Amino acid sequence: MEAAYSKLWLDYKPLDIPFSGSLAIRCLKGVRRDCAAVSELITALSTLLPGAELTFGADSAAFIVELDIADYLSPEGYTLSADERGASVSGGSEAGLLYGVFDYIRALVTEQGLTRISRKVSPALPLRMLDHWDNADGSIERGYSGRSFFFRDNEIIISDRTVQYARLLASVGINAVAINNVNVRGEAVRFLTSAYYQKLDMLGELLGRWGISLYLSVDFSAPMSVGGLPAADPLDPAVQSWWREKAREIFSSVRGLGGFLVKADSEGQPGPYAYGRDHADGANMLARALKPWGGKVIWRCFVYNCSQDWRDTRTDRACAGYNTFAPLDGHFDDNVILQVKNGPMDFQVREPVHPLFGVMKNTALAAEFQLAQEYTGQQLHVCCLIPMFREIMEFRMHNGRDKDRVLDMISGAAAVSNTGDSFCWTGSELAGANLYGFGRLCFQPELSAEDIIDEWVTLMFGGNEEVSEKLLYILLGSHEAYEKYTVPLGLGWMCKPNHHYGPDPWGYEFDRWGTYNRADRDAVGIDRSGRGTGYSELYYPPLCDIYSSPETCPDELLLFFCRVPYTHVLKSGKTLIQHIYDSHFEGCEQAEEFYRLFRSLEGSIDAETFRNGCERFKEQLRCAKEWRDIVNAFFHRLSGIEDEHGRRLY
Ligand code: GCU
Repeated sequence: MEAAYSKLWLDYKPLDIPFSGSLAIRCLKGVRRDCAAVSELITALSTLLPGAELTFGADSAAFIVELDIADYLSPEGYTLSADERGASVSGGSEAGLLYGVFDYIRALVTEQGLTRISRKVSPALPLRMLDHWDNADGSIERGYSGRSFFFRDNEIIISDRTVQYARLLASVGINAVAINNVNVRGEAVRFLTSAYYQKLDMLGELLGRWGISLYLSVDFSAPMSVGGLPAADPLDPAVQSWWREKAREIFSSVRGLGGFLVKADSEGQPGPYAYGRDHADGANMLARALKPWGGKVIWRCFVYNCSQDWRDTRTDRACAGYNTFAPLDGHFDDNVILQVKNGPMDFQVREPVHPLFGVMKNTALAAEFQLAQEYTGQQLHVCCLIPMFREIMEFRMHNGRDKDRVLDMISGAAAVSNTGDSFCWTGSELAGANLYGFGRLCFQPELSAEDIIDEWVTLMFGGNEEVSEKLLYILLGSHEAYEKYTVPLGLGWMCKPNHHYGPDPWGYEFDRWGTYNRADRDAVGIDRSGRGTGYSELYYPPLCDIYSSPETCPDELLLFFCRVPYTHVLKSGKTLIQHIYDSHFEGCEQAEEFYRLFRSLEGSIDAETFRNGCERFKEQLRCAKEWRDIVNAFFHRLSGIEDEHGRRLY
């Protein structure tokens, strides 16, 4: 039997308003009665307004909700107008209508009444995607929320939970989902075989009903592993024809398929390099096979040398993505989207924005974020990522375009999902804000992080002001706190190797992954200016100049870009070493405050949420102290410099 799960922000409850009488839903031009928008509206209204008598099409009803499809709107756009007598939602397609209906329901719940609304909305980013790193055996790479709900024992699962998931994603505007891990090689089961088509088709159809396209991560060497060919050279006609035939087979068997996601030549995954070909050769070969079916290839730019010698101070992993892909700008077919991680390393708590967002002016790009909190506390620590994601989207690349923010350079965003089969989907209830917020941000990036999180808190916990205020305070301060008690000033990688939880300042120092802090008794950080690895020169002016000197580099990225002595004075007026000590104490105090505030909500939030939260806040505090004492002791022992405030540094 399927384990129980929460409906999260779609767990509708009766509104606190007196409403009785007839309520009619009128399906006008182009709206099928059995579409998802109509079924969602019925589910919502019958619960929100339990006194209402729900009918279809009665003109005389006291309250009328009209739905129609309007050609003048973009397919995923909608208009919504409402007052106390009724509402009208027009969508550019069934998907647009669905988004409009969800917006209306959201307004009813957050406003607790039949409010006046008039708006026209269309999503800012055409592709709004979640990438699952779920394996066919049901395990999840970097999963902190239980097992996969897509797979069990090498089978695809389709259940009520799948429907609820599709509803949750659609309600925040997600329109694509890759269901399997990007690390495909080594998987016992490969989805490119006909044994899976029937289930994939059912899944694709189900997701499609909610406006979501199904994507599959594929193995670049599938012509060999699945097809039995001797090689997977993208320029080999036999390989090209194998993929063409495979695309024909799978696209004609599976409804709702959007395309393939590919991790190639990265961390052991096969790719075009084995045949002396570049990434444009590889991606375009697949894109041409998918083109007749309207399919897209989402090709990841996370390509670097993961067998580096730590003694080599010239090779800089941060440069790798840029060096691989920048020379190929303009060489990709129009159904290829390059998926670029938000920073040049790997989802650290603080990284500069990836320079590829500036330079790839003639290539479709999607930004890749990570909701799974691999390096940000693994859903045991509260770490709300939405303010950071928003800051990254708003970041200006200064690449000569009139509109030069990351948001203006991308046509999509994808995030590594943080979900699993835990009761609350994301292991920690508060981590649900990241899932919700990512979708909302991609749809309407003009919303502030505070507005988005506030909306989520209200939908999840109702209108209790004390609860809202405290949760909002915790969530909005959580990323800063995490950053303070873990790794200072953009340095990254002080976590324990492999599982990436908890502190180990030299855990990655003498390893092969290109992840070094180079701390010694005098100084710390990497000189990435032109005098050093040259990474800062991959940005346009003025960024390259700003990043190249400790005098101008923003403090929060100082140790990413510069190597400085412990006595270097920051813009705050503190020395570097004193900043490290102080921020670790402050971050830890914040973690303590979060736990105290959360405990004060006992009785105001439901008992399970309270229990789950307390357990996690307690662990967060334990781990924060560990981070504080280990990182402070590390720098104290190396530098020999005492804390100005005489605190114990161990
Ligand atoms: C990180 C993560 C891996 C993952 C990789 C990726 O390195 O630790 O588990 O496979 O990112 O993004 O492909």
